[in-house]
Amino acid sequence: MRLEDILFSQGFGTRRVCAGLVQQGFVSVAGSVCDDPGTFFQPEGLVFKVQGVDWPFAERAYLMLHKPTGTECSQKPSTWPSIYTLLPGPLRTRPQKAAVQGVQAVGRLDQDTTGLLLLTDDGKFIHRMSSPKHHVPKVYEVTTKYEILPDQVDRLLAGVVLDDDPKPVKAAACEAVAPLHLRLTLTEGKYHQVKRMVAAIGNRVEGLHRSTIGGLSLPDDLAPGQWRWLTADDLALMAVRAAKA
Ligand code: URA
Repeated sequence: MRLEDILFSQGFGTRRVCAGLVQQGFVSVAGSVCDDPGTFFQPEGLVFKVQGVDWPFAERAYLMLHKPTGTECSQKPSTWPSIYTLLPGPLRTRPQKAAVQGVQAVGRLDQDTTGLLLLTDDGKFIHRMSSPKHHVPKVYEVTTKYEILPDQVDRLLAGVVLDDDPKPVKAAACEAVAPLHLRLTLTEGKYHQVKRMVAAIGNRVEGLHRSTIGGLSLPDDLAPGQWRWLTADDLALMAVRAAKA
């Protein structure tokens, strides 16, 4: 693939802009500047540098973000800054892949929820991870306003009725790990589901953090607002979990 096309596919701008970056000597491959936009490289496994920053070629982008509080999971946020402002420019401007308009969050978290968020431009992955059919478990750490009673845990496990559906929704797992700390596992993703389920048992969510999706947990060293690429191991882990569920 031509270097200019490689840069274009990774979101570095129009073909003209990408050719300009190369011609101006801003791009290096394997430690040497390459200033000919037409030079061919095998893209798989290629790591190139643009203006001193390493960039691994990725046919599809798979990322995790530690969503901080006070951010919206929308491209066009209404009140709070968008989570997409936390990603580097090329990840926000990758060309559209099939039906997916660039890199997108896999599901959404509320503005005041923190924790693990996956992003990708792979439509099949988004579908598999979000579809209720695949039952991908998501673990939430919930800080409650009132002390959690054993009966409240039992009710979440048995199923509670929310206002938009007569069919009860159940927690796949639920435990009180401290008087005001509930660990709740859900396999669906209804609107404000944790907050509404906790309200339905007569308690209230004061803080919400997603720690795990499928077999993947938020790493301790990924600070709020930071992102990283998903590794092949991360992806394999999720594929297995999703397939088994
Ligand atoms: N449930 C909620 O209520 N909010 C979230 O952000 C995620 C799950």
